[in-house]
Amino acid sequence: MALVEATDLVREYRMGDERVRALDGASLSLDGGQFVSVIGPSGAGKSTLLHILGALDVPTSGSIVVDGVDLATLNDDAASEFRRHRVGFIFQFFNLVPTLSAWENVALPMLLDSKSLSSAKPRAVELMERVGLGDRIEHRPSELSGGQMQRVAIARSLIMEPKILLADEPTGNLDSKSGADVLALLADVAHDQPDRMVLMVTHADDAADFSDRVITVRDGKVLDPGSRPQPAAPQHTAAPVPGAMWMTGPIPRIGDSGRHRAE
Ligand SMILES: Nc1ncnc2c1ncn2[C@@H]1O[C@H](COP(=O)(O)OP(=O)(O)O)[C@@H](O)[C@H]1O
Ligand SMILES: [Mg+2]
Repeated sequence: MALVEATDLVREYRMGDERVRALDGASLSLDGGQFVSVIGPSGAGKSTLLHILGALDVPTSGSIVVDGVDLATLNDDAASEFRRHRVGFIFQFFNLVPTLSAWENVALPMLLDSKSLSSAKPRAVELMERVGLGDRIEHRPSELSGGQMQRVAIARSLIMEPKILLADEPTGNLDSKSGADVLALLADVAHDQPDRMVLMVTHADDAADFSDRVITVRDGKVLDPGSRPQPAAPQHTAAPVPGAMWMTGPIPRIGDSGRHRAE
């Protein structure tokens, strides 16, 4: 069974008398161990799709099963639990807490999940090393470059060991070198574990270079919903993250930072 199975998703917004169908029958099947890019014109429904897959939003109709869990069956508490433990989010503008150090930002989801500082810190430091920032753990976000901030955000998204990582234009605010580093890291993270996958909204050029599969969203529909077998992904040498509890913290919900960007 696919890790993510979304069927006939509709998300309708009402604006006065008008209705906007952000999603209009989107279906999608995603396998674990893959780095999948979502491309498509601005306003196509890409961010809406990501939010719904991560239980940040609910569809008007349609079904989503993630890792065997039918999201429609979740009440508010269970949805919040699902977000915290199964899903990691990575946003264009990082969403780091400016008053916390880098490692504290990474540890935050565990602390919000009532874990002790003494258990959270070693994992946060380890993840900082994993993303290549072992020498920046005490830095504040303002003391880091954009690429470094995004790597901190990736470390944070991993601390709860999510099944799906959802990244909405994670390189949209980075120069091309930092962007390439971030994409390589995300590919690495996706290939690390067969029961984890990364779904990323991005631009066509990035998508082709780094991902195992590219899907196109247009007019609220996924044009190529099925799983496509891909050649085996290159093996990576990064050590697996130990202490695998499910993880990810409630990352503050933000608006669609990428909507205004031309694609
Ligand atoms: N909260 C909202 N209220 C009303 N319309 C929305 C809202 N969010 C998104 N939309 C509309 O839904 C469509 C899809 O938006 P979005 O998923 O953000 O597209 P993309 O990420 O592909 O640029 C757009 O027409 C957008 O204006
Ligand atoms: Mg968007």
